[in-house]
Formats: sequence, structure tokens, C-alpha cells
Amino acid sequence: MTQEKQRIVFHQETEEDRVYSLSLRPARLEEFVGQKDIISNLQVSLQAAKKRKECLEHMLLSGPPGLGKTSLANIIAHEMEARITVTSGPAIERAGDLIGILTNLEYGDILFIDEIHRLSKVVEEFLYPAMENFKIDFVVDKGPYARTINFNLKPFTLIGATTRSGLLTSPLRGRFGIFHHLDFYEAQDLSQIVMNSAKKLNVALEPEAAMGIARRARGTPRIANRLLRRVRDYAQVKTKDGRIDCAVSDEALQTLGIDGMGLDENDRRLLRIIDEHYRGGPVGIEALAATLNEEVDTIVDVIEPYLLKIGFLRRTPRGRELTEPSAKHIRSLSFRKKEIQPELY
Ligand SMILES: Nc1ncnc2c1ncn2[C@@H]1O[C@H](COP(=O)(O)OP(=O)(O)OP(=O)(O)O)[C@@H](O)[C@H]1O
Ligand SMILES: [Mg+2]
Repeated sequence: MTQEKQRIVFHQETEEDRVYSLSLRPARLEEFVGQKDIISNLQVSLQAAKKRKECLEHMLLSGPPGLGKTSLANIIAHEMEARITVTSGPAIERAGDLIGILTNLEYGDILFIDEIHRLSKVVEEFLYPAMENFKIDFVVDKGPYARTINFNLKPFTLIGATTRSGLLTSPLRGRFGIFHHLDFYEAQDLSQIVMNSAKKLNVALEPEAAMGIARRARGTPRIANRLLRRVRDYAQVKTKDGRIDCAVSDEALQTLGIDGMGLDENDRRLLRIIDEHYRGGPVGIEALAATLNEEVDTIVDVIEPYLLKIGFLRRTPRGRELTEPSAKHIRSLSFRKKEIQPELY
């Protein structure tokens, strides 16, 4: 299995995604497909803040990678006609870095902190008064000359994004006013996203093919867009006009090792190991990680969420277990000479 095949349905952003996300990222709330409840709530919050001519309250966006947290933060800035400063938890190493960012904010600016659960304790504590009453206190000099300086900041909105909201400390969580959790998308919405992206990329894509891609995108727009780009490459090489119909996209996805449920070799390996080595489970996550030769975090953050969501995996106090549909899926695949059978589902 090549690197490419292993990576294609990964949720994390690759360099190529970053390049394309600039052109494929929705710019306005109306262009943001799906997550209807969040969007209508956001519309109210935005309008209310605009009417009062106040800043939006601090907002926490949580959810698995690639569902649109960064996109939403940018859209909010756009809708509020505010400047946005983008940084991330691991990028702010020292309190000084944060102070520099905060003191440069103008009235109404948006500060977007990605992976906010990865802020260090010291930096996080500086953030508390900044979020609460737009002040920071810092100590200058040492020993007997030490003085505390209070600095007033201009009111701003912090938008934090996290894939692991459970890892946020409660004092930090308590300082947010608005919470939105993004969930995996329905195939219908993903198909719309793929159609819109095809238009932007100038690709002829038939609606049924878009639906086929959407169904294999693990509920994730980033993966849907990535699959579209791979299918586009395939169509460009293998067809006369580059047009993508169902047959072409199915063929392309098969050669990429993605099965009818959108699972790639990593997922299937995990399911197969539970099935074959642990008789369907339960198996502890540590043991599973060791057998798979994979990090526990990768399993928990990247591989597992979608398998849990589609009911292919069960989390029990004694460990992970296969469910009936997943056992059926994985066994039906291994009975065949050719492993991938997208028509199955
Ligand atoms: N609702 C949507 N409508 C259209 N496109 C979307 C939507 N959500 C996400 N996308 C597309 O998916 C890509 C990934 O989204 P984004 O970078 O916002 O995800 P994220 O939640 O911030 O991921 P991460 O946790 O990895 O930072 C975007 O570039 C955009 O093209
Ligand atoms: Mg992001």
C-alpha cells in the first residue's frame, strides 16, 4: 500500500489541502453548507452583536478535524467586517507571545486560536483576565523591584477551535459565552459541497458521482474535497473529456483503496485486527495500538471517531468491540480476491 493510499482519507490538513482550501473554503455564511442549527444560531448572534454595535461573545468551536471550524471563524470575521488574527495553541510558546498578540488587537478584532486545548498552563492563565475583562496583568522586573502592570486591552472576540473539547480546563471553558459543536455531515450536504467545489475547480461532475464521493467521505468536507481532486486527476488521465460520471469516480476510488463505506486500509486493518486477533473484542486501546503499531492518540482522534459514528465500533468499559455490521463488512471484503467492493453498500 502506498503512502498516498494510506493518507487519502486522513482528516488532517495536508499541504495540498492548505493550498486548495484558500479557493474552496466558503467565504460567507450562505455558502457554508450543512450544520443548519449552528448556522441559524450564529446568524442570530451575529445580527444581535451588530445591532448593539458590540463585539461578539467569545466562542468555542469543537468537533473532529476537517469539518469547518477554521472556515467558520474566517466567515464570522468576514460577516462582522472584523480583522482576524490567526494563531494556534502550540504556536504560543511563552506568555510574552500572547501579550504581543493581545496588545496588537484593535476594537472588535477576532483572535482565532486553533487547537486551543494545547495552550500551556502559563499562557492560559494570561488569557483568563484578557477574556473576562479585557485586561492583562504582568509582572516586570524581579525580586524587590518587581511591579505588576495592568494593561487595558481593546474589546475583542476570541474564537477557540478544538478537536478535543474534553481536554479544555474548566476555567478556560467557563470564559466562553457561545459553544458550537460541529458534527459529521450528512451525505446530502457533502454532495452539495463536492458539487460546489467542482464548479470552482471547473470540473464537469455528474450529481450521482458527487453523491458517490460524498458517501465515501466519512462525513468530512475536507476528505470530500480531497477525494474530488483525486477523482479529477484520474478522470483527466483516463477519459477523453475529463468528465466525471459514476463509473469513473467508482473506478478512481477503488484504485485509491477506498471501499464503499469510505474506509481506507487503516480502518480496515484496525477492524480486521480486532476481528482476527481479539475475536471481535473487547480489546483495550493500549493493546490495540501496540498490535497496530499506531499511536493511541491517532486511533482516538483520527481513526476511531468515524467508525464509532457509523456504528462499526463500540466503546465499552473493557475496550473496543466490533459490531455486527462491521464484522460483516470486513469479512465480506476478505472473502474476495479483490479487496475493494464499493458496490457492497
Ligand atoms: N460547511 C462547509 N461547506 C463547504 N466547504 C466546507 C465546509 N466545511 C469545511 N469545508 C471545506 O473543508 C475544508 C476544511 O475545513 P476547515 O479547515 O475549516 O476544517 P477544520 O474544522 O478547521 O479542521 P482542523 O480541525 O483540521 O483545523 C475547507 O477548506 C473547506 O474547503
Ligand atoms: Mg482548522
